[in-house]
Amino acid sequence: MIRLGSAAGARSPRRLATACLLLSLCTASLKADDGYDLWLRYRLVTDSSRLREYRASITALVMRGESPTIRVARAELLAGFTGLLGAEIPLERDITRDGAVVAGTPAGSALISALGLAATLGTVGDDGFVIRAVRIGARPVIVIAANHDIGVLYGAFHLLRLLQTHASLDGLSVTSSPRIQRRLLDHWDNLDRTVERGYAGASLWDWESLPRSVASRYRDYARANASVGINGTVLTNVNANAMLLTPPYLAKVAALANVFRPFGIRVYLTARFNAPMEIGGLASADPRDPGVRRWWKRKSDEIYRAVPDFGGFVVKANSEGQPGPQDYGRTHADGANMLGDALTPHGGIVMWRAFVYSNEVPVDRVKQAYEEFVPLDGTFRDNVMIQVKNGPLDFQPREPFHPLFGAMPRTPLVMEFQITKEYLGQDTHLAFLGPLFEEVLHAETYAHGAGSTVGRVIDGSLHGYRRTGIAGVANIGTDRNWTGSQFNQANWYAFGRLAWDHTQRASDIANEWVRMTFSNDPAVIATTVPLMLHSREAVVNYMTPLGLAHQMARGHHYGPGPWVTGGRADQTSVYYHHADTLGIGFDRTRTGSNAAAQYFSPLREALADRATVPDAYLLWFHHVGWLERMRSGRTLWDELVFRQTAGVDSVRAMQHAWQSLEGKIDSARFDEVRRFLVIQEHEAKWWRDAMLLYFQTFSRLPFPAGTEAPAHPLSFYRELRCPADARRPRCELVY
Ligand code: GCU
Repeated sequence: MIRLGSAAGARSPRRLATACLLLSLCTASLKADDGYDLWLRYRLVTDSSRLREYRASITALVMRGESPTIRVARAELLAGFTGLLGAEIPLERDITRDGAVVAGTPAGSALISALGLAATLGTVGDDGFVIRAVRIGARPVIVIAANHDIGVLYGAFHLLRLLQTHASLDGLSVTSSPRIQRRLLDHWDNLDRTVERGYAGASLWDWESLPRSVASRYRDYARANASVGINGTVLTNVNANAMLLTPPYLAKVAALANVFRPFGIRVYLTARFNAPMEIGGLASADPRDPGVRRWWKRKSDEIYRAVPDFGGFVVKANSEGQPGPQDYGRTHADGANMLGDALTPHGGIVMWRAFVYSNEVPVDRVKQAYEEFVPLDGTFRDNVMIQVKNGPLDFQPREPFHPLFGAMPRTPLVMEFQITKEYLGQDTHLAFLGPLFEEVLHAETYAHGAGSTVGRVIDGSLHGYRRTGIAGVANIGTDRNWTGSQFNQANWYAFGRLAWDHTQRASDIANEWVRMTFSNDPAVIATTVPLMLHSREAVVNYMTPLGLAHQMARGHHYGPGPWVTGGRADQTSVYYHHADTLGIGFDRTRTGSNAAAQYFSPLREALADRATVPDAYLLWFHHVGWLERMRSGRTLWDELVFRQTAGVDSVRAMQHAWQSLEGKIDSARFDEVRRFLVIQEHEAKWWRDAMLLYFQTFSRLPFPAGTEAPAHPLSFYRELRCPADARRPRCELVY
């Protein structure tokens, strides 16, 4: 614990060591760069004029209070200043010199309450903060002020980010508050420590040793989340295990919640719908059964005894074989409301997922969630939210936004993104998801005319939702670098930053992440930011261009499998591409499934019309002839070849660009990225070759002159088998 003391006392080596211990930061920084420190590296500012400015502007920290969150914020600021300024910054009781940083709440600090910030603070809510360069007496100071301690912590991270990115402190004036209340990570972690669709090692949660042994990494995890404003974590897989709700596991959950609490992070759990039967000994899980309802009420009371600030439940019901209310002839609303009622006395919420697809194969799977949920709008309890994936299919490299956004004005919708890149090359392929998130959040739903963006649906401003939320399926595991690759860290970061403010640009987020994570060297920024911003489009191009979707191999979803047939039709590739000798694409216009009609006018008409549909969604909505002309002037077949080849070429350009940074980035991280780009180049070509050779059996057209020849015949790709390990489905590609 750091106590207030004299300037001289605060400079003691012991005090620095304490700050280091608190943050496990300084020790980490002595080790080789392996990515563990994420974007919170706090290395010495390399720009000498900025360093001079910072040293003059930040000479001491004046910060009182002993709440757990204030202690965390203070330790963070001290460690950050020490690292970035290369000098220990003393903790002082009062302002004794120019250049103090004064941080706190009006309630906790007389200095702050005397500043006249009440009106501004009145606009920033529970989590927001104000940072200002002001004078106290005659002395210039920097103030971090907030209504609550958690806002002070968020403000502390913001100020440190400014230093990390070499921003000027001149005339500093920041007022910031999150647009969305619940900003969550959803872990698809199982109790045996496997992670569904996880590509970064095992689950962080060591259930076996909890609650007795509490790993320091839990704290580092919470700190990283708090640094981007994430304030909730759903610990477990949506394909839930009822054991989680038994007393031994609740004690383990409570131990994690205790670690996370100072960082403003609440814990949520996934609820298995038939838990009353599996662990409660009841004969039914019918939501109308009074015994079942009582069971959930008691279970909720028990959870809140263990975790008083428990956030609530996430539920996947009647989807992919999970139990749910429809097993008893009840609706999703019946199920969700029963859980809502159980949580109401404690202030908890239910996030009921709209990712449903039933046992009967529908004409068009992408229509199902809308058809099931829109009729239920307005029938959910006040504390029930519906959690909707960004697109109507399943986290594809590109999908149109989900038509439920805008279509449920009386039910708050939670956005669900997937940060773990199940369908975008998993750990190895470099795909920065900022542009994907931005594309969805900025998309126009036209629910109330122009300006009705998806972002405004989920931030509540469009329909006046009282509760708001956004969730990202986490990409975090026990790998030393947390996320399986260095660049996958950027997706965690970008999710958090956009969850805070969805109007931000992916390009700005990439810029600050590069500066914080790699370097402020202009050459590194000028090379890495564009590389990141183009990377997702490269993946779209070599995997599923022009609105194609779900062409991944069955099960692991890593490599190409456009030929996948058999089993459940809507889990096959042929169901989605509809290729035949005439053309390719899923007709979702009136002559087909009419899914386009689920969107609002004028988008609906634009998507349904071959003349106006954007190329990016062409084959999502239309079956198009192989020789039809595209906007580019090329035929569809030539365009497909062009796009998939362009995807491979982009990866080669990424390799080239990265290589130019040798010597400008520490060798361990440089080399890891370099090696992954080699794999990505091979696999981009694998995707291109397999897709084109397969679709050529339908188009029966030659590749345009000058096209790079496929490395192998189609049979080679069709026979390629990936290892059984679903978490590392590296296929043996021999070139
Ligand atoms: C995808 C994913 C599954 C997951 C499901 C879901 O289909 O492949 O592993 O369970 O989404 O979101 O529920």
